[in-house]
Amino acid sequence: MPQFIALTSKGLRPVLKKELQDLNFKVLKETGEGVLFDGSWNEAIRANHELRTCTRILKPVADFQVYNADELYNHCKKIDFTKFFDVDQTFAIKVKGQSPFFNNTLYAAQLMKDAIVDQFQKKYQKRPNVNKEKPAIEFYCRLQDTQVSISLNTSGTSLTHHGYRDQSVHAPIREHIAAALLKHAGIEDYDLVWDPMCGSGTFIYEAHEILNDNFIPRDLPIYKWKHLKQMDLKSPEKKHKAPLDHYYLASDVHPESVAAAKTNLDPIRSSHLKIRQGDFEDVPFDKLDLKFKKGLLVINPPYAERLGEIEKLKPTYKRLGDFMKQRLKGWDVWIVSGQAQLTKELRLKSDRQLNFDNGGISCRWLRYSMY
Ligand SMILES: C[S@@+](CC[C@H](N)C(=O)[O-])C[C@H]1O[C@@H](n2cnc3c(N)ncnc32)[C@H](O)[C@@H]1O
Repeated sequence: MPQFIALTSKGLRPVLKKELQDLNFKVLKETGEGVLFDGSWNEAIRANHELRTCTRILKPVADFQVYNADELYNHCKKIDFTKFFDVDQTFAIKVKGQSPFFNNTLYAAQLMKDAIVDQFQKKYQKRPNVNKEKPAIEFYCRLQDTQVSISLNTSGTSLTHHGYRDQSVHAPIREHIAAALLKHAGIEDYDLVWDPMCGSGTFIYEAHEILNDNFIPRDLPIYKWKHLKQMDLKSPEKKHKAPLDHYYLASDVHPESVAAAKTNLDPIRSSHLKIRQGDFEDVPFDKLDLKFKKGLLVINPPYAERLGEIEKLKPTYKRLGDFMKQRLKGWDVWIVSGQAQLTKELRLKSDRQLNFDNGGISCRWLRYSMY
């Protein structure tokens, strides 16, 4: 049975592992790189369409050690790359990680490219072209000290894009991260989700999809791969589930954010979804006819690195803390914290936390249970 590796952002691997298990994939273990699972190629296709917390699904093809740069070229020459794609198809190489033998990942990519091109030249007297934007096949090379792992990227472009975000705003959260944070918060245990600083609406769209059909349409490259042509690969279809009784509220103080959220959330045709403009304190919550027993509030508030900007944001966090204490009794609140000095202004103690990487910024996902 082939094995595949599902990748995600730093800190979110346990959430991805649980998502794989919940979707009935056969998880083998967490590796240094991602989560290893075992299944047919059709299972890999299903994973590409159903996983929301994943960025890529790789099919490992070779693992070896190198003790100088030339050895990368020599090992790659021993892998038969001509079996994966035709000379008139394009390819690309993505290199990640670090090794003392390569000052930069570009050098490693160049050596691997030379090994591939030389193989084709020898066999067909013709070279395949590189296409970095939309290659027919992408090889993924991970360097970890002396260890080199080479894989095929079954996903094509990054799986972080879930196909709905036409409109973006400043500092949107990446879609796979939003999904992972909602899953970690245990979204199934609540019947109302409110994002009062919704920006382009990412949390609310993800919340709706997780609780409803959870299928992402994708244009996967693997149907054109040479070594899979004889296989009976099946593209899964969206399954329609009966809509759940959850309520969703997206609000934001800025009209442009609300306009973006309206566009992005437009595919959700549900009377249970409300979108409003206003400061979080002014949303006319009681007049919105939201029927719920247990509410979940999720927020990715603005945060800053520079001292002057931090000072400007402090009053908003202080107001948010007061609002949570006075108006959200019985709710669970999860907040993205990118700046500890600001979260301190809430003057509340979190009772759970998850550390994760948010586009290069170390963040924490903090829970406040409001009694
Ligand atoms: C970091 S962005 C959120 C991005 C969002 N999670 C997304 O994926 O698009 C922060 C948002 O908070 C909103 N905001 C700032 N102060 C606010 C306030 N007092 N009340 C409501 N929204 C506020 C901003 O307009 C901005 O859209």
